[in-house]
Amino acid sequence: MASSRVLNFGAGPSALPASVLEKAAEGLLNFNGTGIGIAEISHRSKEFTAFVANLEFLIRTQLDVPPTHAILFTQGGGSAQFSATVLNLLARHRLLHPHLSDDERVMDYVVTGSWSEKAAEEAKRMGGSRVNVAVDSRKYSKDGKSFDNIPPHTEYAFSPDPALIYYCENETVDGVEFSHKDADATSFPYHLLDKGALLPLVADYSSSFMCRPIPHLSDHAVIFAGAQKNIGPAGLTILIVRQDCIVDVDAAAQLGATPIPLTMSYKTLFDSKSLYNTPSVLPIYIAGLVLEHLAELGGLKYYEQTNRKKAEKVYEAVRKGEEKAVLQRKVQDGAGSWMNVVFSVLGDGAEQRFIEGAEKEDMKGLKGHRSVGGIRVSLYNAITEADTDKLIGYIEKFVLAESNTTS
Ligand SMILES: Cc1ncc(COP(=O)(O)O)c(C=O)c1O
Repeated sequence: MASSRVLNFGAGPSALPASVLEKAAEGLLNFNGTGIGIAEISHRSKEFTAFVANLEFLIRTQLDVPPTHAILFTQGGGSAQFSATVLNLLARHRLLHPHLSDDERVMDYVVTGSWSEKAAEEAKRMGGSRVNVAVDSRKYSKDGKSFDNIPPHTEYAFSPDPALIYYCENETVDGVEFSHKDADATSFPYHLLDKGALLPLVADYSSSFMCRPIPHLSDHAVIFAGAQKNIGPAGLTILIVRQDCIVDVDAAAQLGATPIPLTMSYKTLFDSKSLYNTPSVLPIYIAGLVLEHLAELGGLKYYEQTNRKKAEKVYEAVRKGEEKAVLQRKVQDGAGSWMNVVFSVLGDGAEQRFIEGAEKEDMKGLKGHRSVGGIRVSLYNAITEADTDKLIGYIEKFVLAESNTTS
């Protein structure tokens, strides 16, 4: 069955390890020896609740999440968290500072790509505070309008005591990612934030969760990630929430904050151990199997090494394609994503030729996002080094053929 599969370089939903999917297929018929399939068993059964507790354990131990932070599971994807982070952190801010007017309450957004832009737009739409774009990376782009870089640390303008400070660690559409090394000019500027207070720092890790350790994890108020890139099928959203951000949202509403639907309140999720209502049972199951697989392979240390190598190899192949004037990088040095490598293929119809040629060799999902075009190679955890080498072989062959026709 697995041998008929092609290589899927899609950006999400994306490739999952075949061995995990085969195990999941068994679980669809008989979950953990219960004789009941995973899609049929009660989410309140002791077997399923134990599975959820183990999923939390796998995340906590592998990412080294401290006891100050809860791990919660919900639905709605990253997009629902664009709204939920605003609602929950505005409720927290209201409880801390009940007398501020909406205009005095500020939320800082770091905009480095299409997803953080969307999150900032949602925050503006929801009201209840002023949105300050702390930096917009388009200002530092080569063409003045693209998300192709991480801005210099000197350019961030954070507000004093904001309700939240938001960033997206890996911009899936634009292929831009913060460096995870503080010393790099393209890291997130944690050093500029007020360490005296508990930071209301929110990070969207949807497309880089579990690909390497999370820097400064304990400084974050909320980290969220939709599962459908590195972890499992769509339908599960993972949250890491610092305890002081799990607030009584009804008490905040009495002070004037926007009332929060119970399913979006972090307190509801926390109090119910993520089982307030029926959770996304099957995605949770597959995520658990994926994380067990990850632990067996050596955990985040293994993935950090492998993912670095995969990305370096693809960037090198693109660089060589640039030398032959066949390919062109879209992202500035130091800002290239490990998970989504984006580039253009130069010449009339060349991008289409690239995609069709790859498909003939059973490699799919390489078309860039519809809003930006080009090629996007997604290198999530399930893509192995051997898979990456196969793609690189194809890129090299393509570059050679194209440079022969143009010279
Ligand atoms: C970085 C990032 N954030 C948010 C989203 C939105 O996620 P969802 O479609 O699960 O709402 C995506 C989707 O691809 C994403 O890549």
